[in-house]
Amino acid sequence: MPKVVLVAAIGRGHALAKKFHQSGVEVHSLMPFHNPGIASCSKSFVIGNINDPTAVAQFAQKIDPDYVFVAGDDPIAAGAADAVQELGFPAIAPVKSVARLESDKAFARQFMKEFVPDGTPAFEVFNDVQAAGDYIDAMSFDVVIKPSGLTGGKGVKVQGVQFKSKAEGKAYAKECLNTYAGGVVVEEKLDGEEFSLHCFVDGSHFATMPLVQDHKTAFDGDTGPMTGGMGTYTMADGKLPFVTDTDYQKALSIVQRTVDGIREKTGVKYKGILYAQFMLTSSGPYLIEYNVRFGDPEAMNLMPLMKTNFHDVCTAIVDEELEDFHVQFEPKASICKYVVPAGYPERKDKIPFKIDVSQMGDIDLYYSGIEQKPDGTLWTTGSRGFGLVSLDSTLNGAYNALESTIAKLDLTGFRYRKDIGSQASIQKKIERMERIRAGNAAITLGQTVRSN
Ligand code: AMP
Ligand code: GLY
Repeated sequence: MPKVVLVAAIGRGHALAKKFHQSGVEVHSLMPFHNPGIASCSKSFVIGNINDPTAVAQFAQKIDPDYVFVAGDDPIAAGAADAVQELGFPAIAPVKSVARLESDKAFARQFMKEFVPDGTPAFEVFNDVQAAGDYIDAMSFDVVIKPSGLTGGKGVKVQGVQFKSKAEGKAYAKECLNTYAGGVVVEEKLDGEEFSLHCFVDGSHFATMPLVQDHKTAFDGDTGPMTGGMGTYTMADGKLPFVTDTDYQKALSIVQRTVDGIREKTGVKYKGILYAQFMLTSSGPYLIEYNVRFGDPEAMNLMPLMKTNFHDVCTAIVDEELEDFHVQFEPKASICKYVVPAGYPERKDKIPFKIDVSQMGDIDLYYSGIEQKPDGTLWTTGSRGFGLVSLDSTLNGAYNALESTIAKLDLTGFRYRKDIGSQASIQKKIERMERIRAGNAAITLGQTVRSN
């Protein structure tokens, strides 16, 4: 029986563990707290510091797996893949120098400018408060301010959403420079609909997964503070209704040039998951960012839909045989909704989890920020609590099935976004994209008056 060491923590890890288990793989997990979902799919597990590459390497040495799958950005950025490869174990995750595509937004934007300039907005990187402020003042467009390092998706602030005036933007840039190391990226705000393209990558070739749309803001109607993602959907045809074939082809071309560019720039092959996050603008898709791992909640949509044996996919990545390998997905729509403690993301509510999981019917439940204590009770960690996933031949069918199950649950102390995946919400997105395309026929993005 093949063996995997899975380094994971949250709902994404539960979805991966379950898929490995269903694919006949023996799962051995290293996790930062006792996630009952990951544990239930694992032959063995250890609670430890997943962000310590030495701890990951020691666990791998003990288990002697076929490969190590690292699920999350922090352990990948810390060098988990490097550490296990040194011991001779293949890693399904890029090494630290390549993981900078996600962990270092300044590096990522500079890489994009070099290899995919047609998918890159205007930006500058600053280490100096005055220079950042001058750039913001000089811009004719709205800006987005991002600390360069990892912030769990919560450090980014967008003008018109999380702040209004340039003065507020300048104050936030200053706060970032005072709080985080590595500088701040100030970039052009892109207007449109976001979508995620996940790919398995073997160093030179890639296999695509269905397109996903995430909902990053905390409340219905895409309002409120940024979160790690409140919910996601996919369509039965693997595309999204507002993404044209031309858009899709450009996204594929960007991924191919990224995979080739990494080999050229670093001399290292990208092996693992590449999740390119795009903004679909009136001029086609532009990169918002790269992620070097599965999205969370996106993995909870994609793993249940994947028909191909997961071990075969991982083996094709390790052996660099993805070129002729077709990864198949069910022709079904899916919705994943996160149920979060009511105070999330501002407060870290620690409340008991008492959902009767036997009442879920066809809906899958994935444990995320839910910890099993030594006495067996389950508590929220304060982060996103659990993901509920529904699959159906149509998105509307998936939506209705999910909502009717949610209606039966006692969600006291929790909340979720009802709008995600509803017909009204999808229609609004289609119409919004039509308006953007009509109003700004192919505006030029990615060019700016330089501040120097
Ligand atoms: P990131 O952490 O880079 O994924 O950014 C978090 C969120 O900020 C994204 O999902 C977008 O909603 C938003 N965002 C980031 N960059 C831009 C941009 N250049 N234009 C508009 N929105 C952006
Ligand atoms: N769902 C967004 C992320 O995983 O980054």
